[in-house]
Amino acid sequence: MLKSTSLSPSNGRLSDGCHNSMSSPTTPTSKSHQIPESANIYTAATPTESYPKLGKDYFRTSKDPMYEGANGIVRKGTDKTRMPTLVIKRIKRRDQTEEHYLKSVLMEYNTIKLCNHKNVIQILDVCYNPETSDFSLIYPYYAKGDLLDLMSNFRRFKIETSASLKDSVFKQILKGVNYLHSKNIIHRDLKTENCLIDADGIIKIADFGYALNLNDDSYIDYLKENPVEIYCGTNSFKAPELFELERKVHSEDGFDFSEFFHKVENMRYVDYWSLGIIYLNIYLMKSPWNNADLHDIKNMSFSKYVKHYPQDPSSVSRVIIDLNKSSSTFSNNPALSLFKGLHYDSRELILGMLHPTPEKRKSPKDVLNSEWMSQVYANPKDLISLLK
Ligand SMILES: Nc1ncnc2c1ncn2[C@@H]1O[C@H](COP(=O)(O)OP(=O)(O)OP(=O)(O)O)[C@@H](O)[C@H]1O
Ligand SMILES: [Mg+2]
Repeated sequence: MLKSTSLSPSNGRLSDGCHNSMSSPTTPTSKSHQIPESANIYTAATPTESYPKLGKDYFRTSKDPMYEGANGIVRKGTDKTRMPTLVIKRIKRRDQTEEHYLKSVLMEYNTIKLCNHKNVIQILDVCYNPETSDFSLIYPYYAKGDLLDLMSNFRRFKIETSASLKDSVFKQILKGVNYLHSKNIIHRDLKTENCLIDADGIIKIADFGYALNLNDDSYIDYLKENPVEIYCGTNSFKAPELFELERKVHSEDGFDFSEFFHKVENMRYVDYWSLGIIYLNIYLMKSPWNNADLHDIKNMSFSKYVKHYPQDPSSVSRVIIDLNKSSSTFSNNPALSLFKGLHYDSRELILGMLHPTPEKRKSPKDVLNSEWMSQVYANPKDLISLLK
């Protein structure tokens, strides 16, 4: 049976809670926020006293969190000028050494600092809380929240969105991820909840807690010490190879790290997959399965999809022709039948992003260069004006 995921505010907000680390910052330019002088380069060697402090340099403006998850507590805040509204994301200490905790904080900060793109979140600073001895990350506040919440509200208030608006949201996400990959950054936790929306309706890819910054080799040692982080992510958005990796990491034969690191660039294919799921979520408000794990015997939707996946160009054409026929139902393949709800132009490319073989997946660049995407445009403000 098809397990379609309904999008309620609480849905999909579970993650496996793993962070990693590395550090190789550069200085991005901030268009909308003044980056304080202290917000330069922090490394594991930076003494705690040198960080800006919560209560002295940054202040919470609300006691109640906007969000609390396994890894972070997100609150609104401000700086010494009391002028901008900021977001203070406290990074929770989990079952990790002091060294790993600090590395995970700096990884998120330094990876985002490498980026300067309209569709990628900005980061302003890191601060230390002397009372609790933990760290927080300082972000601009994106007034329209996250895409999962926005879509849930559309559904709750029965607001229809046009195909072109949905496609234009996806195009912004593709641009952001394409940029990240061009900078050798793999996100690894792409989902609607991790796409924030600013006051102008611009999408910002956020939450780099799992990101892999391939510019800095320190991720190798970090993942060796924290192998569970090799396969982390959010189940319904996770690529099938991550479930395989999970089994290998825990296998009694031991995990071959050198083989994994030799091909670590292949981790970008997990982002391609998540993008395909994101499109189905945006367009249909449904996910095709709860997880893409062939070993989950309850998960017939995914195994049927893989079994019937068209492997060569002529089979792809056949499936696309069948999908386009109004009489076809794909009743034996509920996940594929979801593609009937997409519009013609997107079907083949989204099917290509959701190729069970990682190396064969369509990349964000392939999709951006497609005829379909070249014709997609909408005013980002249209997205947020719908809820006014
Ligand atoms: N800068 C921001 N502006 C507005 N909302 C934000 C901002 N940062 C985070 N949020 C809200 O907080 C939520 C959680 O933030 P984020 O994804 O960074 O934390 P997290 O790492 O997922 O936490 P956990 O792993 O514990 O679930 C986002 O989905 C969004 O709703
Ligand atoms: Mg998140």
